[in-house]
Amino acid sequence: MKFVFFGAPGAGKGTMAAKAAVAFGLPHISTGEIFRGAMREGTPLGLQVKALIESGGLVSDALTIGLVRERLAKPDAAKGWLLDGFPRTIPQAEALVSFCPEDYVIDLTVSDAKVLERLSGRRMCRGCGRSFHTVFMPSAKPDICDDCGGELYIRNDDSVESVRTRLENYRTQTAPLENYYRSRGTLVSVDGEASADTVWSVLETVMERLLAGKKA
Ligand code: AP5
Repeated sequence: MKFVFFGAPGAGKGTMAAKAAVAFGLPHISTGEIFRGAMREGTPLGLQVKALIESGGLVSDALTIGLVRERLAKPDAAKGWLLDGFPRTIPQAEALVSFCPEDYVIDLTVSDAKVLERLSGRRMCRGCGRSFHTVFMPSAKPDICDDCGGELYIRNDDSVESVRTRLENYRTQTAPLENYYRSRGTLVSVDGEASADTVWSVLETVMERLLAGKKA
């Protein structure tokens, strides 16, 4: 089955999609992580998008759509996928429908106050990309990833200025997708405000029902 994880910056898309990937055996495809990987490795793609991403802007539709189209054509995505961070504009959503339509869109709803609280304490692993939070999801050893032992760092686009730009882009360019998906009948809202364990337990049940062919 094909799921899009949708929501504001910091809503918990990456955290929940990572859990769902393990629970349901579907590949977790994060456009943000693809771009960050390219930036880490200093590839031409990484160099091209670095300044834009760090300032909180959106990468062009043409570039992002091309990357996702290529990724979804890989064999591991043949039986389904969890898309995280894509689509985030109407042209991206229309492109996805044209080449590989979603079954469901999981809309993680959170308040702006929660977003700010989560992004200000987020720490990411340089090695595997897992995210932690200094208060809500601390690593066992300070600044070391529990999974791969990699160094934890603060994303440049989690600065106060970039978060403001990302939230503004979300409101103007991404939030309108809610109505788009509501009218396609694929939008499923899940309250993302509670603790990660609580959100995951609700989400897991919702996804099990959807996979069993029942509307949540
Ligand atoms: P991307 O990485 O997709 O950033 P984003 O959408 O802003 O989302 P985040 O990664 O900030 O948040 P999240 O919802 O995944 O939250 P997380 O689980 O980490 O994209 C980065 C950039 O790449 C974009 O700004 C853009 O420039 C570019 N880009 C990417 N896709 C693009 C596209 N399609 N088109 C154009 N440009 C694109 O959680 C946040 C924190 O909260 C973590 O610390 C976590 O541990 C904690 N947390 C999570 N859930 C909970 C909970 N329930 N309770 C307490 N803490 C929690």
